[in-house]
Amino acid sequence: MKKLVGFVGWRGMVGSVLLDSLQKNNDFVGFHSVFFTTSQFYGIPPQVTNNTSERLEDAYNIECLITLDIIISCQGEKYTTQIYSKLRTIGWKGYWIDASSCLRMHQDSIIVLDPVNLKSIQLGIEKGIKTFVGGNCTVSLMLMALGGLFKSHLIDWISVSTYQSVSGSGSRGMLDLIKQIEYVYKNISPHLPLSKSILSIEKIFTESLNDMYLSKDNLKTPLLGNLIPWIDILMNNGQTKEEWKGSAETNKILNSKKNILIDGTCVRVPVLRCHSQSFTVKLNRDISVREFELLISSHNPWVKVIDNNFDSTVDQLNPLRVSGTLDIPVGRIKKLNIGKKYFSAFSVGDQLLWGAAEPLRRILNILIKSL
Ligand SMILES: NC(=O)c1ccc[n+]([C@@H]2O[C@H](COP(=O)([O-])OP(=O)(O)OC[C@H]3O[C@@H](n4cnc5c(N)ncnc54)[C@H](OP(=O)(O)O)[C@@H]3O)[C@@H](O)[C@H]2O)c1
Repeated sequence: MKKLVGFVGWRGMVGSVLLDSLQKNNDFVGFHSVFFTTSQFYGIPPQVTNNTSERLEDAYNIECLITLDIIISCQGEKYTTQIYSKLRTIGWKGYWIDASSCLRMHQDSIIVLDPVNLKSIQLGIEKGIKTFVGGNCTVSLMLMALGGLFKSHLIDWISVSTYQSVSGSGSRGMLDLIKQIEYVYKNISPHLPLSKSILSIEKIFTESLNDMYLSKDNLKTPLLGNLIPWIDILMNNGQTKEEWKGSAETNKILNSKKNILIDGTCVRVPVLRCHSQSFTVKLNRDISVREFELLISSHNPWVKVIDNNFDSTVDQLNPLRVSGTLDIPVGRIKKLNIGKKYFSAFSVGDQLLWGAAEPLRRILNILIKSL
């Protein structure tokens, strides 16, 4: 008999990419589905194969939730914190699949990224683990990009600077950036074609954004024409939580015997979709650039090594090129002058796909096949 899967948070950034991907891959044929909401109580569920209800169900209705075999939540941390333990406390034995971070470091959960940790996932299912959580977006994208180096136990440490798109902060963050573009355009359009001096144009642009700062409702400062070197809350060692996740989650996913050190600075940039990362990698032995490239490109089918030249880099190593695809281009690979074991690499990945929805879609299918 087909299993019953509940979808919570399917309307948000991650949820809508997940839904789209499940439809494109014809996955809905494999199970029955029910759609939930936390706000649109009289809304209509999306038209998908094997949907069982005519209306959206209340995502806080525990009696309805306990009838499900699998729940996928892309609703966020607040919802998971409120509902997950209630369900477990009353003895719900179903599978919980989550996009948010709050269950990732729990002892009885597995962070899923099957091209990297399929064995741990399979072992976990056999042992009766019931909670599977998608990893932090930059962590998953880094592990996809540099998986071959991790698998060969070559990494001593990684220092990383991230360039994270605004959709990483959810649908509100993305809408906010679009509103900023609209606002600046309104201010600049009376002067088009650009008739004023270049400095006057710059002044209109900057002043528009600074005015808008006063009417902000999401980010603390406008992101357009700007960047914010801070993501998530402050930890007690000066890191942000986003930076802390780099090492903590990577080592959990890899089940590392020796802690691999990863640290850096996470930066929000005015890009709509896709996160980019600039890595400095210290290896534990001297290998050639060619070996480095072969190791990463043979790890999984999505990594594409980009030649270290201007044309290939500009053409293929950027967020617009990668948005909406599962490609993980890795370029700017070179040995650093610092020493023979030091490499730089730059990677881009769609944080809504490999960084969020795709590992969830894949664990759902793995579970459906295993039940
Ligand atoms: N965004 C990413 O790149 C990313 C990557 C990895 C992990 N995550 C994690 O995944 C979880 C969900 O993130 P998200 O980025 O998908 O959050 P989101 O876009 O803010 O969506 C979360 C919920 O907000 C509600 N919502 C309110 N206004 C909305 C609007 N205008 N459009 C769509 N939905 C709206 C929806 O719930 P109702 O339909 O019930 O109202 C939706 O399910 C978070 O825990 C996040 O940390 C996100």
